[in-house]
Amino acid sequence: MYEDAPTERREGRGPILSVEDMEITTTDLGLAARVQHLTKTYGSGEGAVAALDDVSVGIRRGQFTAIMGASGSGKSTLMHIMAGLDTATRGRAWIGDTEITGLGDLDLTILRRRRVGFIFQAFNLVPTLDALGNILLPFELDGRRPSAIERARIDGLVQTLGIGPRLRHRPHQLSGGQQQRVAIARALATAPDLVFADEPTGNLDSASGREVLQLLSDASREHGQSIAMVTHDAVAASHADRVLFLGDGRIVADHPRRSADEIAALMLSTAADATAHPAQPVGVAA
Ligand SMILES: Nc1ncnc2c1ncn2[C@@H]1O[C@H](COP(=O)(O)OP(=O)(O)OP(=O)(O)O)[C@@H](O)[C@H]1O
Ligand SMILES: [Mg+2]
Repeated sequence: MYEDAPTERREGRGPILSVEDMEITTTDLGLAARVQHLTKTYGSGEGAVAALDDVSVGIRRGQFTAIMGASGSGKSTLMHIMAGLDTATRGRAWIGDTEITGLGDLDLTILRRRRVGFIFQAFNLVPTLDALGNILLPFELDGRRPSAIERARIDGLVQTLGIGPRLRHRPHQLSGGQQQRVAIARALATAPDLVFADEPTGNLDSASGREVLQLLSDASREHGQSIAMVTHDAVAASHADRVLFLGDGRIVADHPRRSADEIAALMLSTAADATAHPAQPVGVAA
């Protein structure tokens, strides 16, 4: 985040750190996760697409960070790599102080299961399990049953998200918004340190959307969890402590909390920048 963010966009931030400073630990930096010089290229030759182009950014511990940017700007790719669900073409990634670049599958799976909750853009529910089975899946995979505290947390999530009457339904029997809410309950059930939410309100009516945003705000404010949320919605992003903008695979802006109107204006200006400088397929000479 350090070298990518222009000086005038650094308001409300700590001292500017150089690349060398990145060798100090993620925890020292007050971050829950970070990536450094991350590049992700899909395909090869003339058809290659740079989904991420030298991105260095951190998710601050205990903060609620919104990630915005046009469709195709690299938001999902960035979150997948930060969460250890995908690998980068170049660059490094850490979850807490553990560098996940090159970490073995087993270690990565355990780290992810214990520390990270992921709400997928496409929900990724297990079709053969009912809603409750999906919510309990992280415990099942960890070979344990939820404790009394965890059961109470799950009950609270089910209640808040209004999915109680649908717990015995399988994903294909649920509406898109209901599936989204089950996916949110699953990601928050273990109270992970770090939650990635890829358009978690994308399929929800405004009342359900507000509940979800409240859940995510509470997770950071009351429980100290670190939340990174992709959204296209200025109102949703106005709940966050910080708003990052991606454009063509790069961080193009980094702001502290903003109102929905201010974010809407920023969305327009970053979209205009992207139109002025359209992405080049990497295989084609500029
Ligand atoms: N598996 C893949 N193979 C090839 N190209 C891909 C693949 N996944 C993503 N891309 C490309 O990488 C770029 C970034 O995709 P990404 O899904 O990260 O965008 P996004 O910002 O999440 O967009 P949206 O808002 O539409 O979800 C896009 O140009 C996309 O076409
Ligand atoms: Mg996406």
